[in-house]
Amino acid sequence: MAKHDGETSAAAGSAIEKKLAREVSAGTAVISSNALENPGLPPHQPRVTDLDPKKEKAAQRRVIWLFTLSIIGSVFAIYAYIAFPIEPGNLTSTRVNNLLVGLGIATALLPIGIGAIYWAKNLMKNDELVEERHGTRGTEETRAAAAEVFRVGNEESGFGRRTLLRNTLIGAVVAAPLPGIVMLRDLAPSADPVEAFSRTMWKAGTRLARDGSGTAIKASDVTLGSVFHVVPYDLPEAEHKLEEKAKAAVLLMRLKPEDFVHNITPGREDWHYHGIVAYSKICTHVGCPVALYEQHTHHLLCPCHQSQFDITREAAVIFGPAKRPLPQLPITVDAEGYLIAQSDFHEPVGPSFWERS
Ligand code: FES
Repeated sequence: MAKHDGETSAAAGSAIEKKLAREVSAGTAVISSNALENPGLPPHQPRVTDLDPKKEKAAQRRVIWLFTLSIIGSVFAIYAYIAFPIEPGNLTSTRVNNLLVGLGIATALLPIGIGAIYWAKNLMKNDELVEERHGTRGTEETRAAAAEVFRVGNEESGFGRRTLLRNTLIGAVVAAPLPGIVMLRDLAPSADPVEAFSRTMWKAGTRLARDGSGTAIKASDVTLGSVFHVVPYDLPEAEHKLEEKAKAAVLLMRLKPEDFVHNITPGREDWHYHGIVAYSKICTHVGCPVALYEQHTHHLLCPCHQSQFDITREAAVIFGPAKRPLPQLPITVDAEGYLIAQSDFHEPVGPSFWERS
C-alpha cells in the first residue's frame, strides 16, 4: 500500500510539472526538470515473530514475565514499607527503608516500561501506514456556526449587556484562589523563617567538636595546615539535629598568623585564636558543603559549582558563582584549652534569601 502511495504521488508530481510546462511561457517560471522523486516507503520487512509462531510465543512469555516481575516489585515495596519502618532519630532505619522501598518501586515500574515497548515492537501489528495531511481550518459553515453559538450565548446570558454582573463574576473568580495562596504560607516553618535562617546553635562558650565523633577540640590538636570538620558540642541534644547541623557546620583551620593578619577587617582582630580560624562550611552560593581545603594556597573549594574562597582574606570569593564570603565564627579557648565560640555568626550563613538585609 505504501509503495502504491509513493508511486501515486510521484506520478502526480510529474503530471503537475507537465501541466505547468504547457501553461507558462519560457522565462516566466523555473521548472525543475530533475526534481527529487518521492522514493516512498521501503518494502515491508516482516519480523521473526511474524514468521515463526514459536518465536512469537517466546516473546509473549517474556512480556508476561516482565509484567509478573512488576507485580512482585509492587508487593515487595509494600512489604518493605511495613516490615522496615522508619524509626525517628534512627538514620540506619531511614536508609534501609528508602533503599528497599526504592528497589521495590523500581522493580515495579521498570519492567512495565520495558514490557510495553517489547510488546509493541515484537507482537503488535507493524504495518507501515501513510497518514495524509489535511488542513486543520474548519469549513466556512463550521466557523459561522461556532460564531453563531458564541453570539447567541452572549445574548442569552447578557454577559456583554449586564456589565456590573459580568464584572462582579470576574472579580469573584479572581478572588477565589487567593485564600489558597495565603494558606501556602503555612508550608513555611512555624517559627519566623527569617529568624530561623539568621541564627545557628553557636553561642558564647559552645565548644567546637569533631563532626562524626562529637569530641571537643583543643587548640593544641589543631596543627599548622590541618583542617577539621566541626559541629557544636551540644548538637546531639538539639531537637532538630539535622536542621541545626545544616546551619552550624564549620571548617576549622590553622594558618600562620602572618599569612592573614594584615587582611583582617577592624573589629575582627580577635576572632581567631593564634592563627586558628573557623568559617561556615555552608557555601554562600546555593548551600553545598564547602569541603575541600588546599593547604598551600589556603583556598576552600565548593565542589558543587567550583566557588573558591581565600581563607587569608576572610574567605573572600576568588572564583565561581558565590557572591559573598563565608561567614566567620569568632572563636577563643576556655580555661581547659578547648576551642569555644565567642558568639553566634555575625551574619546569616548559607545562600542569600529574600529578606536578608
Ligand atoms: S553551592 Fe557552592 S558553588 Fe554552588
